[in-house]
Amino acid sequence: MIPVTKPFLPPREAYNRYLDGIWERNWLTNNGPLVNELELQLKEHLNLDHLLFVSNGTIALQLAIKALGLRGEIITTPFSYVATTTSIIWEGCKPVFVDILEDRLTMDPDLIEAAITPDTSAILATHVYGIPCEVERIQQIADAHGLKVIYDGAHAFGVQVNGKSIFEYGDISTCSFHATKLFHTIEGGAVMTKCPEILKKMAYLRNFGHDGFEKFNGIGINGKNSEFHAGMGLAVIPYLDEIRKKRQNQFVYYKELLKGLQVRYPETSQLENYNYAYFPIIFNDVILLKKCMHLLEENGIGSRRYFYPALNNIGFNEGICPVSDRISERVICLPLYHSLTKEEQRMVARLLLRVQNNL
Ligand SMILES: Cc1ncc(COP(=O)(O)O)c(C=O)c1O
Repeated sequence: MIPVTKPFLPPREAYNRYLDGIWERNWLTNNGPLVNELELQLKEHLNLDHLLFVSNGTIALQLAIKALGLRGEIITTPFSYVATTTSIIWEGCKPVFVDILEDRLTMDPDLIEAAITPDTSAILATHVYGIPCEVERIQQIADAHGLKVIYDGAHAFGVQVNGKSIFEYGDISTCSFHATKLFHTIEGGAVMTKCPEILKKMAYLRNFGHDGFEKFNGIGINGKNSEFHAGMGLAVIPYLDEIRKKRQNQFVYYKELLKGLQVRYPETSQLENYNYAYFPIIFNDVILLKKCMHLLEENGIGSRRYFYPALNNIGFNEGICPVSDRISERVICLPLYHSLTKEEQRMVARLLLRVQNNL
């Protein structure tokens, strides 16, 4: 069995050391020392001024929308995980879909202005598969129209643009630290901003609005995370370079093995510090995709249609997004995780090429 993804588990003793501390202190949650330590280490690792560890990447998006006080319409991408859109709706706003770029699969900046109306309050774009959005163009458009910018960076841990963390862009960036992500805390996520006022607002929102025990700074939610989750993150951090390097090697090897396969890949060759979060392949036609998925499944190999259906096609709000429609029907992600072996990669490639050659 080769799953499409497998969480990285650090050596048991490394996690046990954090568990021992939790037992000694008897402090399990509510902004404990491990949560603080994790926030510090992540800020250092990513070279960021501000970061808050939260319960998951979905709450991170909701906190971001709430902290910026967004209303009305939010321009967003149809090519992302469902949480990007549902967070907008959950916060009482309306998603307005703008199509994606053919090569990067991120929001097409040329189409944003036509989607802006007097009701638009923000742009929420995803660095899908860890591929950065055109952050400078998006910021220019947002500035020209007085819009806020949120980036869903659930896939983008460690990626850089112009020598800076991708999370420095926009008013707020979010990340997911779900078990299947490159860096994980079992469940978890983060909100990041350069603005101390927005940070403060999100810190209140994360903790029910508490301002001390007896005072409240507005309405909040429970977006906190626990010492156990923070401990896992701390135990994973020392392995980040190794995890990334392994994925990079696997990425390059897949491309070599799949040379004869009639597929294309999202454009990642020019990216700075790309994180190899996924290995998506885009088929020319849906029939070949389905046959490949079927044969992989018959041989106990996982593959996933990330992201199908496109989010403009699942009844939230329509939008005409032909590029995203076409890509989402034709893309699958192949197994990619730290312990995937070359032998297993060769098996995946052999099966895919066999399907194509039998057509
Ligand atoms: C693009 C994107 N946004 C948001 C999320 C939600 O993150 P979480 O599962 O941590 O809530 C995910 C989860 O995989 C995602 O892929």
